[in-house]
Amino acid sequence: MEITKIKGISGEISVPGDKSISHRGVMFGAISDGTTELTGFLDGADCRSTISCFRKMGIEITQVHDHVMIHGKGLHGLTAPTEVLDVGNSGTTTRLMSGILAGSNFSSIVNGDASIQTRPMKRIMTPLSMMGADISSMKENDCAPLQINGGNLHPIHYNSPVASAQVKSAILLAGLYCDGVTSVTEPVLSRNHTELMLTGFGAQISSEDTTASVVGLPKLHGQNIHVPGDISSAAYFIAAALLAPDAELTIHNVNCNPTRDGILKVAKAMGGNISYESRRIVSGEEVCDLVVKSSSLHGTTVCGDIIPTLIDEIPMIAVMAAYADGTTIIKDAAELKVKESNRIDSVVENLKSMGVDATATEDGMIINGGKPLHGTRIKTKSDHRIAMSFAIAGLFADGVTTFDDPDCVVISYPDFYKTIENICY
Ligand code: S3P
Repeated sequence: MEITKIKGISGEISVPGDKSISHRGVMFGAISDGTTELTGFLDGADCRSTISCFRKMGIEITQVHDHVMIHGKGLHGLTAPTEVLDVGNSGTTTRLMSGILAGSNFSSIVNGDASIQTRPMKRIMTPLSMMGADISSMKENDCAPLQINGGNLHPIHYNSPVASAQVKSAILLAGLYCDGVTSVTEPVLSRNHTELMLTGFGAQISSEDTTASVVGLPKLHGQNIHVPGDISSAAYFIAAALLAPDAELTIHNVNCNPTRDGILKVAKAMGGNISYESRRIVSGEEVCDLVVKSSSLHGTTVCGDIIPTLIDEIPMIAVMAAYADGTTIIKDAAELKVKESNRIDSVVENLKSMGVDATATEDGMIINGGKPLHGTRIKTKSDHRIAMSFAIAGLFADGVTTFDDPDCVVISYPDFYKTIENICY
């Protein structure tokens, strides 16, 4: 894969289904009674890992590209897996599924790739243990592989030290298996797909400020869900259209849930010309079409409560900042260090190697933008979001941009490079 400079962008695209919503559709369908049908499912490696794990627990799931049928067996219908549950690269699968496994009356082992085996799991082990689960890190390093002996949970109220939808969701899912009300308070509101979707499946969920609560032992019923396009995938093409000298791009069917739309707010604050069209609700989620035009961008400060709403888009925002005039400061984003790679280091290292004045800080980065970038060999750390953000950087850099692991985009956007080819000239 070689990326070189483009002149412009035009066309209309749809991006693949939302990753968070696709995972949840499979998991919630598996523990509901009856059939769940997902259309627009993200057919990427992470969501395939979720399907494979639930198949190993006796759930019949058929998948043809973005169409998935899940034959759920109810809250207590999963059966003990006879092999390790392999989550691949997926933190969402690991943490959300652990909540379900904590409530299920059998033993299981959850493991994944080298990246997963370095990601912090204490953040779910602590609350799930407080609920009565027997969950341990088999290498005693607070990471996967995890051994989970589930069952006999009791409700808790948990004050989470991190704003994390994966932590919140693990607790709410374990709460389904408790007699009583389980609740989680986060320091800042994280994405709320679990709350929205579980309500659709029939659970009693309430949300107030940054606290979400669930009433245990519900009857969940299979649903038909249209998965909207992933704003995290749209982010690459939003940025590309803003940065291109001549661009007008329509991105159809993008999820614009306010707990996910921080990229749009930041892009506008940087001077981006983006308009929303046909805002609507589909399967409980806000969806719109976005029209993005070439813009002259300037630096900004990104910090505080907006961070969880754009946490996965920070590598892309950093690249936009490199092309924007002036300084961009990103703060309060220490969570970046524990994503698929340490994204503060991966972003700053690659920006520097493209000639950008960028500095890593404890909880973010400082980027002095506006000077030309040059192509380089990108060190992706096999992190899909690093590969895609720097592919977009390469579209406006002098020379050629290459990658040590271009194929890692299969995690969330298998056709990413094809989409670039289709719309760029
Ligand atoms: C996700 C939550 C976020 C996000 C991840 C998907 C989810 O992680 O980074 O890509 O689907 O709940 P955290 O909850 O760890 O912040």
